[in-house]
Amino acid sequence: MRNFEFYNPVKVMFGTDQLKKLSANLTPFKKILLLYGGGSIKKNGIYKKVNEELSNFTVFEFGGIEANPRYETAMKAVELIKNENIEFILAVGGGSVIDAAKFIAAARFYENGDPWDILAKNKTVNKSLPIGCILTLPATGSEMNMGSVITRNSTNEKLSFLSPLSYPKFAILMPEFAASLPQRQVANGIVDSFVHVIEQYVTYPADAPLQDRFAESILKTLIEEGPKVYENPADYNAMSNLMWCSTMALNGTISTGVPSDWSVHMIGHELTALYEIDHARTLAIVLPGIWKALRNEKKEKLLQYAARVWNIYGGTDNEKIEKAIQKTVDFFESLGIDTQLNKYNINKESIKLIVERFENRGWKVFGDRQLVTLEIVKKALEYQL
Ligand code: NZQ
Ligand code: ZN
Repeated sequence: MRNFEFYNPVKVMFGTDQLKKLSANLTPFKKILLLYGGGSIKKNGIYKKVNEELSNFTVFEFGGIEANPRYETAMKAVELIKNENIEFILAVGGGSVIDAAKFIAAARFYENGDPWDILAKNKTVNKSLPIGCILTLPATGSEMNMGSVITRNSTNEKLSFLSPLSYPKFAILMPEFAASLPQRQVANGIVDSFVHVIEQYVTYPADAPLQDRFAESILKTLIEEGPKVYENPADYNAMSNLMWCSTMALNGTISTGVPSDWSVHMIGHELTALYEIDHARTLAIVLPGIWKALRNEKKEKLLQYAARVWNIYGGTDNEKIEKAIQKTVDFFESLGIDTQLNKYNINKESIKLIVERFENRGWKVFGDRQLVTLEIVKKALEYQL
């Protein structure tokens, strides 16, 4: 096992009735920004319930954070925060709203030029406003991690940053708040969580059986519980299980002491930036392609995944890997998620464009052991045409 430090200061409040703890957790702050997305929280009543808990605070509102949150919109919220001297951001929504809150909080104090540099030039965040979140969509794990992904309209770039100052102070996880999700978003949440685990598990053996079993247990739970939530997002118990899986999939626990990859996400982000395909759907496209392109390099973990997650024991190594890839594809497709590029009207020309974008950014190799060269990116996407 590798050396590691584990730090996660997020206070999680999970289950029914957690909202009544909100005001106590906002103290000592007085001026709060309620940040939300396109309005789902108004339709499903969450907005009203949250506001009822905020009667002792001065509340400012900023709605309209997009799915795949935009830098341009976030900067408008930064302006409001500066003008009103707002002290705390309460993000109510899915990963997009929480990610936007993290960026806005960091941009509030960024003084060395354009805050976009935090994403584009890896500039360090030295100060950030505190944020808290109320999760309405289990998927990204953003509620309990220090990552944020932001898109810039003017350049069509989707980039991420990490900062220990971006951990939310608290995360309220109430599975009933996700009951209003459309099936499409539930499916996205299941697949995003699944691929988060894969990025930290299907790498190469690191003599870390506990982390491997953590990862496998999340994958197996998603396979068992996912279809139940997909069929009925109001199934409280199944939604609870999905919600905790998605948080645990990306809160740093399963990546302790082991290598991780993240190439599927890096390629997926290009597909979203260029073609506005939902984040999880891009992962469902890229993952099988990457596995086909790197089946030898990732052989040991792919075989472990085949056996322990899908109970595949018979056949040659190559056959077992093929079956495991097919099982994964079938699982994604059973949730209504297409895994082939042509289903999204993407052709060979687009693959060239994606490779060029990596090239122009100087990203020549990435992934675990830097196995993903631009040639592999091309090959992986071509498998999915
Ligand atoms: O905007 P509103 O009106 O709220 O509607 C949203 C949005 O249209 C809707 N929704 C959310 N909760 C709902 C609901 N509709 C009905 N009932 C509810 N309870 O769902 C739509 C999608 O929301 P969004 O927040 O965009 O989805 P998700 O949570 O999947 O977040 C995706 C974003 O997170 C980034 C992705 O790249 C993408 O930008 N990621 C962030 C990560 C992180 N911070 O660690 C890691 C991930 O890999 C990912 O990259
Ligand atoms: Zn993801």
